[in-house]
Amino acid sequence: MPVKLNESLSILISAEEIQEKIKELSQKIEADYGDEPILLLGVLKGSLHFISDLGRLLSSQTTVDFVQVSSYGSGKSSTGVVQIRKDLDVNIEGLNVLIVEDIVDTGTTLSHLRELLGTRRPKSLKVVALLSKPEARKHQTQVEYVGFEIPNEFVVGYGLDYGERFRNLPYIAILHEG
Ligand code: IMP
Repeated sequence: MPVKLNESLSILISAEEIQEKIKELSQKIEADYGDEPILLLGVLKGSLHFISDLGRLLSSQTTVDFVQVSSYGSGKSSTGVVQIRKDLDVNIEGLNVLIVEDIVDTGTTLSHLRELLGTRRPKSLKVVALLSKPEARKHQTQVEYVGFEIPNEFVVGYGLDYGERFRNLPYIAILHEG
């Protein structure tokens, strides 16, 4: 049960639960990739804490790059229009690319990204998402590693924002209307 904090936020996933889950994810990723080097591709800005915490737990040889894709504007629902605001700095041909996403909601952003990056001939292309809202899915898209499946509620914290607020919270909370 979410813990009601104040008028607008209820904690859904605690900071400790997040860290535990990231440890599990890092172990699965290491087991799957073995000695292969990995390019961790963070999707800005929501993945900022996740890529940092996950990256520090991986003993694999990793490099990091970022892409910024926007489908949300500043509101609570997706506009459905995906724009690349910042492309990668590196050529991914022949690399093992692991997209690091904060949350998969409708799946619009991820399906677009997967399609785009797939054309650049990476050696492999996988996705790790801390959160997934299966009920909100409009575009079926593959997500190889999922931290938590959550209900179809708007959440903030641990990198996720509402109008650029709340990214700094160490936990994930449901943002209530009002
Ligand atoms: P999608 O394209 O609908 O899957 O949305 C993906 C992007 O929308 C995520 O990377 C987030 O930046 C944003 N987003 C989706 N759901 C939420 C939410 O509950 N809180 C904050 N941002 C969200």
